[in-house]
Amino acid sequence: MTTTKTTLMSNGLEGVIAAETRLSDVDGERGRLILCGHDVEELALRASFAEACGLFFEIPTADAAAALARGRLLGFDKLPRLGDALDAKDGMDALRAAAAHLPDGAPPLEIVGALATLAAAWSRRQAGEAALPPDATADHASDYLRMVRGTATPATALALNAYLVTVIDHGMNASTFTARVVASTGSDLVSSVVAAIGALKGPLHGGAPGPVLDMLDAIGEPPRAEAWLEGELAAGRRLMGMGHRIYRVRDPRAAVLERALERLESSGARSSRLALARAVEHAAEGVLSKRHPERALKANVEFYTAVLLDAVGLPRTLFSPTFAVARAAGWCAHVAEQRAHGRLIRPASRYVGRMPG
Ligand code: COA
Repeated sequence: MTTTKTTLMSNGLEGVIAAETRLSDVDGERGRLILCGHDVEELALRASFAEACGLFFEIPTADAAAALARGRLLGFDKLPRLGDALDAKDGMDALRAAAAHLPDGAPPLEIVGALATLAAAWSRRQAGEAALPPDATADHASDYLRMVRGTATPATALALNAYLVTVIDHGMNASTFTARVVASTGSDLVSSVVAAIGALKGPLHGGAPGPVLDMLDAIGEPPRAEAWLEGELAAGRRLMGMGHRIYRVRDPRAAVLERALERLESSGARSSRLALARAVEHAAEGVLSKRHPERALKANVEFYTAVLLDAVGLPRTLFSPTFAVARAAGWCAHVAEQRAHGRLIRPASRYVGRMPG
């Protein structure tokens, strides 16, 4: 019998480095996120999603844009052959089932592009509306928004684009790790993406923005925030959109999304819940610091995601699927890295059960 002596134990693998990557770096102490050599603040407010995808796959922006467009068309072609996948009531369940129908062997950015069409088609089906065909000449964010809503203004498309770039990748987060684990076994890309969607669905990862909007609605106006938040904590519930495994300061992505929202508001596009969100964030920081003085619990990306996606006109049921539409680019790039440099991911466990006899 062979035994490997293992002495390290990290519940939740906190602090364990499982891979080297050139894709993104998260500095939780200083609140800095680098995406392929760019600070998130700079990239998200300037670059198109296609340009960011080009950086992740080291290809020209035009090639990335063309692959995303082919993917949107691929997703549309698949729609009649998805069975009842898009009938699921939950958007992540629907996306997971529909994504499983994508062809193994399709190029990564075509898989990414296809998810936008699938998510948009699910949302329209929920509203009793027919899916809209993609426009291969349009920018990805703008086309996604139009496929959901039937219309997209330059200002709302710009804001959604900033969101898609902001959340494209984030170190070894749970869904990316999941994608890498699947890839490390030699499995196919679609399997990695489907598994990653499952990981992203959970409320501790990508499932929080819908509940953040529910929270803002329940609070309604700033003076009610503190008492409402205290009530949640007293009931043993977590405040959605607050806290992070890595960041000990405010999540830098929250600031980027706040800037994108300011830009949207200044275009006069639509008044959002930005002022209420700021007041609730302030109150939440206050109540959390009283309860957890030992640990900084600040706003995470999901807090302003909720406000931004609502402001561009996406229904809250589509918030988590939209996260997947963006993060899929990161997943696919990590899968490529894992295949090129990684080993089978196979940590150990410590047996605490009964011994025989
Ligand atoms: N609201 C209330 N309490 C929170 C909290 C929150 N949002 N986030 C963490 N805490 C508390 C925990 O209850 C725990 O307290 P305890 O030791 O008394 O039980 C303490 O802070 C440490 O939390 P822990 O679970 O160890 O942190 P983590 O690193 O595992 O969790 C998150 C990180 C993101 C999962 C967590 O902050 C959370 O659940 N946030 C809300 C959901 C959310 O916004 N998800 C999106 C993430 S991007």
